[in-house]
Amino acid sequence: MSKIVETILKHSHEPLLDKVLLSEEQLQIRIAELGAQITRDYHGKDLLLVSVLKGGVVFLTDLMRHISVPHSIDFMAVSSYGVGVRATRGQPRITLDLNTDIRGRHVLLVEDIVDSGHSIDHVLRLLASRNPASIKVCTLLDKPSRREVYVPIAYLGFEIPNEFVFGYGLDLDEYCRNLRFIGTVKAEYQ
Ligand code: PRP
Repeated sequence: MSKIVETILKHSHEPLLDKVLLSEEQLQIRIAELGAQITRDYHGKDLLLVSVLKGGVVFLTDLMRHISVPHSIDFMAVSSYGVGVRATRGQPRITLDLNTDIRGRHVLLVEDIVDSGHSIDHVLRLLASRNPASIKVCTLLDKPSRREVYVPIAYLGFEIPNEFVFGYGLDLDEYCRNLRFIGTVKAEYQ
């Protein structure tokens, strides 16, 4: 068991928290704005939201409740990091594919964070080959200083500095995804 998990199970996330980077209120205000913008842009279009598990799921469930055009949802999973591994590994791997035929659908990929860009780039290329009517990216967080491949981001929540963040879908060794805010981790736990 890692030092991080041991601490969380014993004391909760609090000893690891350096600072709150984005509060629950900041997140919810911005997500409502994004939902309104997506509602306007996809009026009259057959929209499919695709969430990239697991991190993107918390954002998806809040975002979709601010989208008032009819839409459906589906899920994919891509593995780019392992527990305790902080650096990007090479090739991302699709560990769960869609159940939906996306041909002719307007697909919006919903991610928690774009870091190196490899995960979303991989998903974009794969889904683009299946002939959707359109495909765009909506990400809650963007860490542009870490980018290794170009990612066209159509909808962005917040640009953040290169800090180790957790909460609101983002995990600390698979824990803490339930937190309503996004925090940074104290240096001694990184
Ligand atoms: C995280 C995050 C993105 C990806 C971003 O997922 O949810 O999908 O990394 O990194 P990249 O831009 O460098 O590819 P992770 O693999 O940690 O899985 P998780 O969502 O299950 O936590």
